[in-house]
Amino acid sequence: MDGAQGSRAQASLCVWCLLMAKVLVIDDEIIIRDRLKNLLLLDDYEAYSAENGIEGLELFESEAPDVIVADIKMPKLNGIEVLKRVKMKKTATEVIFITGHGGVDTAIEAMKEGAFGYIQKPIEYDELKIAIEKAIEKQNMQAKIDTYVLELEKSVNEWEITFNCVSDCLSIHDEHYNIIKANKAFTDTFGYHSDIFNTKPCYDIFDCIKNDIAHCLNLKSHHSRASCIKDIFYKPLNTYFEITASPIFTKDGKFKGSIHIFKDITQRKLYEEQIQASLQEKTLLLREIHHRVKNNMEIISSLIELHIEDIEDKKTINMCDDMKNRIKSMSLVHKMLYQSDNLSEVNFADYTKNLVTDILNSYCVEPSMVAVNMDIIDVYIAMDTAVPCCLIINELVTNSLKHAFTGMTSGKLHISLREVGQKTDQKTDNNAYELIVKDNGKGIPEDFDINKSASLGLKLIKILAEYQLGGKIEMNTKEGTEFKLSFNELQYKKRF
Ligand SMILES: Nc1ncnc2c1ncn2[C@@H]1O[C@H](COP(=O)(O)OP(=O)(O)OP(=O)(O)O)[C@@H](O)[C@H]1O
Ligand SMILES: [Mg+2]
Repeated sequence: MDGAQGSRAQASLCVWCLLMAKVLVIDDEIIIRDRLKNLLLLDDYEAYSAENGIEGLELFESEAPDVIVADIKMPKLNGIEVLKRVKMKKTATEVIFITGHGGVDTAIEAMKEGAFGYIQKPIEYDELKIAIEKAIEKQNMQAKIDTYVLELEKSVNEWEITFNCVSDCLSIHDEHYNIIKANKAFTDTFGYHSDIFNTKPCYDIFDCIKNDIAHCLNLKSHHSRASCIKDIFYKPLNTYFEITASPIFTKDGKFKGSIHIFKDITQRKLYEEQIQASLQEKTLLLREIHHRVKNNMEIISSLIELHIEDIEDKKTINMCDDMKNRIKSMSLVHKMLYQSDNLSEVNFADYTKNLVTDILNSYCVEPSMVAVNMDIIDVYIAMDTAVPCCLIINELVTNSLKHAFTGMTSGKLHISLREVGQKTDQKTDNNAYELIVKDNGKGIPEDFDINKSASLGLKLIKILAEYQLGGKIEMNTKEGTEFKLSFNELQYKKRF
């Protein structure tokens, strides 16, 4: 097997590349030059030869060989000089030197100048061929690296452009709380000064809570492994920002820092403050209105009281007293509304307790005479429903005190409110209630007909229960008197 055949059999590296590879042999010894050229041609290389450095450089310029195989010692221009000039051109061409016996030091020097390798004479073609293949393989690898680097540079450029296009301020923080990168909007807003980049921890700059790392979004997003949001006031710019920090983790879950997005929310904050101020103003106004309504009702009560002093007819006096109590029980709703935080609903249990206490006081009932038992669920009821309810309770409790216990030394009064039907989280029409007012007194005569009654109280109860509340009232007179009112809380109706 001759050298060329042997090397063909051994060829394992990038056959396609080798087929097209150009090799230039520069040697002043014609025997070596021709032998190498012929063997390379037999191996399908595009081979050229030159007898000195000058001629070699001309061929290098015209043919752009992939590899130059050059003797070191040559007349006119030696191999090292050829190498230097080739390297100056910054091409990918690799140079392999042929050196005579004892020329190793020169060859090593040549390697320092950038030669790919050297072969000692007498030349083993197989050895040379492997060196050429390796040189070409290195070129291919270098070409690939160059392509990757170009692609990488391109994508980094594209990323930078996109990063800088975002109109919100963006900053990337490392795990040590340093701001390591920021987009154009960020540097335009905060400036690119040393205070922000790398000298101070990010929480010191933006949290504006002296050294309070606990509020640091970098830390919070790390611990929660999720995006965290907070609003800050950045004093140097007199601006409110909403900051969203999203944590950055490596593939193996290691925290690398976070990306912060700053949104200028100054305008929104101003609107919020205005809305808050106007809400506060309206709350005060509403409280004031309830207060005045309650005062006006008390004035009406007092006026009736004054009239009573001039009335002699007992029946008229009683009527006026009842009227006064009805007005008082309504004024109590307004009193409770302006005294509580909730300006539209009353706590029904508290309200009933106050109302019954007031009625007992106005009828001068001693606690030992009437034992009052209340079992009312903890519920808030809106004014529209609370007012008719309070009038009904007023009438029923008043009736018990006025009529039920005559001839008795003591009596029992029971008032309860419970929710009936399906319970819902939010109040809807389905929020149905059952109110019971019951005494253990003598009871209403069985032949009593509410529709034929000349008095107002029970008629008022019927009108309020059925027409105003849309509910149902039942009367039970078996043991004492029991009134059962079933109703749904009224939905708020827009009036304006
Ligand atoms: N709890 C009760 N126990 C016994 N009798 C009652 C009771 N409630 C009402 N009555 C009787 O029913 C009548 C009608 O009651 P109603 O409330 O309509 O009138 P009133 O209390 O007499 O006057 P007003 O119109 O001022 O309420 C009463 O006069 C009384 O005889
Ligand atoms: Mg009555």
